[in-house]
Amino acid sequence: MRKSIFVVASIAALALTGPAAAQQPMIVKFSHVVADNTPKGQAAIRFKELAEKYTNGKVKVEVYPNSQLFGDAKEMEAVALGDVQFIAPSLSKFDKFTKQIQVFDLPFLFNDIAAVDRFQAGKAGQDLLRSMESKNFLGLAYWHNGMKQISANKPLLKPEDAKGLKFRIQASDILAAQFQALNATPQKLAFSEVYQALQVGTVDGQENTWSNIFSQKFYEVQKDITESDHGVIDYMVVVNAKWWNALPKDLQDAMKKAMDEATKVNNDVAGKLNDEAKQKIAASGTSKIHQLTPEQRKQWVAAMKPVWAKFEGAIGKDLIDAAVASNESKTN
Ligand code: SIN
Repeated sequence: MRKSIFVVASIAALALTGPAAAQQPMIVKFSHVVADNTPKGQAAIRFKELAEKYTNGKVKVEVYPNSQLFGDAKEMEAVALGDVQFIAPSLSKFDKFTKQIQVFDLPFLFNDIAAVDRFQAGKAGQDLLRSMESKNFLGLAYWHNGMKQISANKPLLKPEDAKGLKFRIQASDILAAQFQALNATPQKLAFSEVYQALQVGTVDGQENTWSNIFSQKFYEVQKDITESDHGVIDYMVVVNAKWWNALPKDLQDAMKKAMDEATKVNNDVAGKLNDEAKQKIAASGTSKIHQLTPEQRKQWVAAMKPVWAKFEGAIGKDLIDAAVASNESKTN
């Protein structure tokens, strides 16, 4: 039944290349889970503006932020069924489709977002965009958010400080292993449920970027945030491959151009939005931001890095090596 809805929707979209196209724009939906005032939120809005402009109004893009249309659990299924055309999940959320993309979840793999950018731009990163085509997902672009910080209602300065606490994680087995390595308990939860889980104490802590911690108000229910930069939250913009490949060439080219420009907007504003969010959290006085000494940082690396060996077989050593190499300042 659901499949036939997708087929009907695709035929309808293609039919719009005929005489009706002049009057009737093709509606495409872009669903995501974060707020408008985040890197992904801003880029989705820019994509809408540009796609509508470059297709001369033949395409109308509806953006649904904040899990309004689909949350974490349903958005991939919605793309598969044709209920939504564009999504941009965090890379961690592709866990059930491919283990290779999980390379991004390895703790302390990338020194900074510049290294993540080099890896994504290189051959290994570009190949990953097409790594789920057999599952009918096509990656059009990577969008940055930023490095993850760890929070709780107590200072987390040494790995032992996390022992016994329950941390919300995205649906990724590597992130689960990362918290198990700290003798903490990971709890997979959809992004839209995190604030409440922190508020009522279903979980004690979480890891996220400054822009997500600020825009979702996690800082209001977490007294202590450690600037750990221990991992990354970035996105892959994905479409239903069959839908995309069946689009008329002019619409596909126009939307690809819009996507490339929106990607640049995203990556230009991501650092700034995260810095601003951090400043606003600091100014709120609600939670204290802790810095790690070099010695404390070494302890976190030592505690979390054993996770790499557990997943090397599933991810592939070559891919991990390529990611590590991106920490040097050249594209690999
Ligand atoms: C997102 O940035 O899209 C959400 C990340 C999360 O689930 O923590």
